[in-house]
Amino acid sequence: MLRLDYEHILPFVDPDDLDRQLVGARDAHRLLIEKSGPGGDATGWRDLLIQPDEALLQDIEETARRIREEADILICIGIGGSYLGAEAVIQALSPSLGRNEGSPEVLFAGHHMSGAYLQELLEHLHGKSVFVNVISKSGRTLEPAIAFRCIRQYLEKHFDDADQRIIVTTDPQKGALNSLRARRGYKKYVIPGNVGGRFSVLTPVGLLPVAVAGIDIRALFEGAAETLVRLASPKNNPALLYAAIRSVLLQQGLCIDLLSIFEPALSGFGRWWQQLFGESEGKNGTGLFPFVAQYSTDLHSIGQYVQEGQRSLMETFLMVERTGNALSVPEEPGAGPKDLDGLDYLAGRPMETINRAAWEGTAQAHTDGGVPNMTLWMQEISPTCLGEAIYFFEHAVSVSAYLLNVNPFDQPGVEAYKKEMFTRLGRS
Ligand code: PA5
Repeated sequence: MLRLDYEHILPFVDPDDLDRQLVGARDAHRLLIEKSGPGGDATGWRDLLIQPDEALLQDIEETARRIREEADILICIGIGGSYLGAEAVIQALSPSLGRNEGSPEVLFAGHHMSGAYLQELLEHLHGKSVFVNVISKSGRTLEPAIAFRCIRQYLEKHFDDADQRIIVTTDPQKGALNSLRARRGYKKYVIPGNVGGRFSVLTPVGLLPVAVAGIDIRALFEGAAETLVRLASPKNNPALLYAAIRSVLLQQGLCIDLLSIFEPALSGFGRWWQQLFGESEGKNGTGLFPFVAQYSTDLHSIGQYVQEGQRSLMETFLMVERTGNALSVPEEPGAGPKDLDGLDYLAGRPMETINRAAWEGTAQAHTDGGVPNMTLWMQEISPTCLGEAIYFFEHAVSVSAYLLNVNPFDQPGVEAYKKEMFTRLGRS
């Protein structure tokens, strides 16, 4: 189970303020569980964990098995909540420099407007067996719609069975993907109407691509479902504590929450977290701006700012108790002058220990520099632990948004850029 270590918060927080926010967090927790807060009808992401749809999970596993057998490449087309969850889990649970055994290459498209990327992707497909999972709840988001048109035409030109290679994940009825599917008979998965994009990773939106990548979706799902049960009580609830601490710090005038990770495998998870918190909290002129830092890489870039820049930051470290990696700094063999690179003091020490020291040092230095920070510990990077972390943050952000008096489940501000863009593109 996840563990929240908040020792480095204590010097910055008045215990009475924290108690007050915890009382509010318990009320917010009740609103979430009873579906009685704003957007309460969009909490289907909890229901599907409480009552799992076994037939759906089996169907996803079966489709994934077919794709794994027949495909060299699966392209997942989607943007925002329609791709970030799958990317997060696949990146975390695949080798850094390759893919899981027996898995096709899983590529993403439709997550930006770059023609250069799309063209390169189309060229990369030549001579390969390609399947596509196009994911869009509304079915009318421009980025994935353009990518799908280009990639669909490629498939229709190169494969006689193109329609069997396309899987659509979309709204039960509405949207252009349903019209296309009615014509072509594509296999379809439904995004439940009561689950918003950024909360959809444990629906077919995330589960199909993740299963194709050779990851155990049952363990992912069960990790989340077990965490829902553990976080059902408002007592000793780390998700409420996390939300309450963030709320105290926001009220002190801080405006940025850095999620800092020390394992590059979790950088996609960081981007998923960033969307979850940014879209859920950032409305009505409030909310902490969520930003992801990948350490120790970024200690050599934004680290200077974090240590000594404007004091507007708090930080959440996301750490892993056991990485399962046994690499140590090697001894220098042979005769001759010793310790030319000055590293003998580390010889024989595991990289895990060195990375841990980097976290400890950073947490202390940032505390000394005036950055309140806490650490959320995952036991390991496994499907179960990722499921735990997914549910933890979904629960925490809902409570956190209710503490801010905003609806966690809408995103009205996202329409503003689209309106301006469509005017320029001449769409009526
Ligand atoms: O969280 C959300 O709701 C958004 O990020 C959407 O997922 C994103 O805008 C894509 O929308 P759609 O799935 O309708 O194409």
